[in-house]
Amino acid sequence: MNPMTHFLALETSCDETAAAVFTDELRVLSSVVASQTDLHARFGGVVPEIASRAHLRNLLPVVNEALVQANISLKDIGCVAVHNTPGLVGALLVGVSAAKAFAFGLGVPLIAVNHVASHIFACRLAANRDIFPCLGLVVSGGHTALFRCDTALSLELLGGTRDDAAGEAFDKVAAILGLGFPGGPAVEREAATGNPKAHHFPRAFIDDGRLEFSFSGLKTAVLYACHGQDVKKSVPPGPGQKRADLAASFQAAVVDVLTMKCKQALRKTGLTRLAVGGGVSANKPLRAALEAMCAKEGAELVIPPLNLCTDNAAMAALAVEKWKRNEFAPADLDADPNWL
Ligand code: KG4
Ligand code: ZN
Repeated sequence: MNPMTHFLALETSCDETAAAVFTDELRVLSSVVASQTDLHARFGGVVPEIASRAHLRNLLPVVNEALVQANISLKDIGCVAVHNTPGLVGALLVGVSAAKAFAFGLGVPLIAVNHVASHIFACRLAANRDIFPCLGLVVSGGHTALFRCDTALSLELLGGTRDDAAGEAFDKVAAILGLGFPGGPAVEREAATGNPKAHHFPRAFIDDGRLEFSFSGLKTAVLYACHGQDVKKSVPPGPGQKRADLAASFQAAVVDVLTMKCKQALRKTGLTRLAVGGGVSANKPLRAALEAMCAKEGAELVIPPLNLCTDNAAMAALAVEKWKRNEFAPADLDADPNWL
């Protein structure tokens, strides 16, 4: 029997510096995430240059911590994996350059992994069994898309967003409401005491069959409901029922749209399993709504625990599938900011 192979995986696509160690049997031995939230908060969003520089500072300590927690050393690593697409190009470059250096220095193969596909693979890790074929929904800060996933590596795009991603809408609405950054968790907390029916915000494409999304009109509707037409002179509302109602009504619109589009996609494709990944899938009302919809539709819902929903390097265990097929990256692997 061949000895087990240990993988070192790196994630630097946006504002989390992450490293993980896992085995070719998909056993995750460590997953370390250094968040840069504090660095970006005062700008109200991720500043690409600050993200790249923070990755440079954080990466080696994070890798070291991942090795310590996994109780192995660098010489035990038999393969290096890295998310090289999609994301902020300067941020991705830090991970890609480091991964190439590790692979070259250790004399082991390098594997390039797609960050969006990894968000779906996080469901495979969480389920601890095969989940393919399935319908995949990725809802993150940069993407909102539905995929037909016949295998972990074959994602066929069924439809995506025409403008903002769902997470981006959460972040922008948080800014409108003065809830700070990152927006998703802040809006969810605020919404907990609000009335989701206080405002009826638009739910784009909800009743037509196309598997597409649009969230920018929703964001603008929240802006006008908050400030009226004179948005330039406005200051965010303070704490109170008005702010909570706006947050709850906005969140309800996003949840309704995502849930309805998943239902339509399940029916259209005939798939009976839904795998959901990306930061927004940490949202509890969304999780509950998808759970209820899947129960009604007779479909299985696979959704990871919160630490596997947001960005991490453990989900890059998708690399194991490529490793089994000898799909290694070239020595001149590049970062590719755009995918889809
Ligand atoms: O997957 P992710 O960590 O990074 C990207 O690949 O973009 O997703 C980050 C996004 C952010 O927009 C954040 O506001 C959103 O996920 N998010 C949430 C929640 N937690 C994170 N959105 C709604 N509710 C949450 N609890
Ligand atoms: Zn992500």
